[in-house]
Amino acid sequence: MNKIYAMTGGATGIGAAVKQQLIDRGDQVIVIDIQASDIVADLSTTEGRANALRALEEKAPDGLDGFIPCAGLGPHTKPYSLIARVNFFGSTAMIEGVRPLLEKKKGVIVVISSNSAPLPGYSEDFIKKLLSGDEEQACKLIDTLDGQTAYGGSKRALAIWMREKSAEYMRNGVRMNAVAPGVTQTAMTDGVFNDETFGSAIKEFSEMTPYGSVAQPEMIADSILFLLGPQSEFICGSVLFVDGGTDAMLRPTEF
Ligand SMILES: NC(=O)c1ccc[n+]([C@@H]2O[C@H](COP(=O)([O-])OP(=O)(O)OC[C@H]3O[C@@H](n4cnc5c(N)ncnc54)[C@H](O)[C@@H]3O)[C@@H](O)[C@H]2O)c1
Repeated sequence: MNKIYAMTGGATGIGAAVKQQLIDRGDQVIVIDIQASDIVADLSTTEGRANALRALEEKAPDGLDGFIPCAGLGPHTKPYSLIARVNFFGSTAMIEGVRPLLEKKKGVIVVISSNSAPLPGYSEDFIKKLLSGDEEQACKLIDTLDGQTAYGGSKRALAIWMREKSAEYMRNGVRMNAVAPGVTQTAMTDGVFNDETFGSAIKEFSEMTPYGSVAQPEMIADSILFLLGPQSEFICGSVLFVDGGTDAMLRPTEF
């Protein structure tokens, strides 16, 4: 039987590849994005998130088989608080909001973290503020810090949030995991590669990938579809690094 999924950030990049793969196999996908989508919403605002959830409830009153919060902004985005608002608060608020629809159908969530999440040097205070749920305090702090902390910190907090919540979600029938992609060729990374501050750092990071090149969005989408599907039924609360071996190379003893 065909399934029905909702996702954010499906207009371009990794999200667009996920959407295409789901459609190609006959599933229905409802995309929420700030551009070209079924539900147009700005997930950096509480109002945008609430509007998106209302529209989604109308489009999928019988529930959802899965949800992929994929919308995200890169470290070159300014102000840095926008990164925290979309990557962390946009994802977590949407997951919490979509949860009742997922509980109706024992749905599955795949969160999009990053292999930059475990890198050292991010502000612990920022990560604590994100996890406390205090959006305004977290945003105030990050606007005094830097884009890499905003990005990597938001992705680390997202993975921790997912792991902290996953048992309770699972007990209510909703399975939740994350992927942590390495550098993938998308509009976001084009922006980072061309950025004065981040261009050389991301070039260096992507050149060290044991696989030998950056990923294509379809490679990340394949892993997301695996985590959405029945072959991963017993996997819950995991962060799957899909990064050509970079994380294992950098942190062989931590897992
Ligand atoms: N590309 C990479 O190297 C890489 C690596 C690790 C993780 N990721 C993560 O993968 C996800 C997808 O990124 P991508 O590389 O495909 O980038 P992308 O720029 O192609 O896609 C991001 C999507 O998010 C949407 N979006 C941005 N701001 C929004 C807002 N305020 N409200 C609603 N939608 C908004 C965009 O319109 C776009 O469709 C992001 O969460 C990103 O952090 C990407």
